[in-house]
Amino acid sequence: MRVVDIILDKRDGRELTGAEIEELIALYTKDAIPDYQMAAFLMAVFFRGMTAAETAALTLAMAKSGETVDLGAVTGVKVDKHSTGGVADTTTLVLAPLVAAAGVPVAKMSGRGLGFTGGTIDKLEAIPGFRTALSGEEFLANLGRIGVAITGQTEGIAPADGKLYALRDVTGTIESIPLIASSIMSKKIAAGADKILLDVKTGSGAFMKTPEQAFRLAETMVGIGTLVGRETMAVISTMHEPLGLAVGNSLEVAEAIDILSGTGGAPELREVCLTLGAHMLVMAGKAAGFTAGYAELAALLDSKAALAKFAALVAAQGGNADIITNRALLPLATVRHTVVCPTDGIVQSVDAARIGYAAMILGAGREYKGQQIDLGAGLVVHCRIGDSLAKGQPLATLYTANPAKIAAAETAVTAAVAVGPEKADRQKLILGTVTAAGIDLA
Ligand code: URA
Ligand code: CA
Repeated sequence: MRVVDIILDKRDGRELTGAEIEELIALYTKDAIPDYQMAAFLMAVFFRGMTAAETAALTLAMAKSGETVDLGAVTGVKVDKHSTGGVADTTTLVLAPLVAAAGVPVAKMSGRGLGFTGGTIDKLEAIPGFRTALSGEEFLANLGRIGVAITGQTEGIAPADGKLYALRDVTGTIESIPLIASSIMSKKIAAGADKILLDVKTGSGAFMKTPEQAFRLAETMVGIGTLVGRETMAVISTMHEPLGLAVGNSLEVAEAIDILSGTGGAPELREVCLTLGAHMLVMAGKAAGFTAGYAELAALLDSKAALAKFAALVAAQGGNADIITNRALLPLATVRHTVVCPTDGIVQSVDAARIGYAAMILGAGREYKGQQIDLGAGLVVHCRIGDSLAKGQPLATLYTANPAKIAAAETAVTAAVAVGPEKADRQKLILGTVTAAGIDLA
């Protein structure tokens, strides 16, 4: 195989064989193909796209490029959930203990964040003592004992994806549906999931700006799952305003505890968690249908059984479970500032991307890979679309270690919240689902 022939074929719109894609990825993983050729190939894919068979072959090739996790020793159907990410998206912290409390094993490998706030692993590290680097034995032992374990994604999982993602990042080839879909699915497959539930977000705060793009990404990922024999389903939800109220690592842990305790947190965050969880229960064969699964999970929140599972998860990974009753144990930044509403009016929009940017300015997120983040920094929004506000009412509370950052963050928050005279309606939260059987609009 000559790499340049593969590039020419893709450039001119000819379909590649599975064997060609597999060899290309295998060679690139062991540094046998220079970045300039891979970059040319990626750009050709960006413009030409990939067929379903090519996308599935790319996914499997990346999944096989490193170690694969065998969860066969854990009884039950392992349903992994992946969110395409957004602002104030704390779903994993709620969903993992919630679904585990219903008796479905949750074996999660999560990443660190790049962008507005940390990823699940960063958030968990805000809990004093919590260890996110579990050995394989510990991971399996905790799963057997309490039914839930969350660990950082090791370097060994889908290394081809890690290399390709870094190259895409600097060659303008991130925003390609087959490349995004294969990147996400390769990691889920390598991490040992039997079935995969995808939480695909759309809106200003999400990767996919329009519902059309989100449904297309979802259909592509479901198509990959079907072709490789891992049942996959996607839920499409909107992110026009931040999903939760808190943006920032410690702050999001606190909001997750609020939801699990039934004492607060954004109702939309609770709704998305119950929706995703109910589908996970159905996929795992633990609930007869969506409605039954939803009711069962709501009862586990109300009874505090999910909160107890969260406490067990924290304790099992070395964390201080006293954070549940004593929030002062979370490392919250001590410099606080309230941003207030400049005029009377109704909240027309809360731009999630701008809110996320404000949190990043305050120190909650990364601008480049490997950057240290401040686990105590971030913000809590106090307004939702449609709220009537008077001049001087709080829009958000900022948390930072660096007072010099407040002015820029305040400007971003004020720009994020549009206030006007008209009545404003919230947009629908759940737009629909995608399965192998097709799209089902909510
Ligand atoms: N997330 C991933 O894991 N990969 C992509 O390509 C985009 C988002
Ligand atoms: Ca996430």
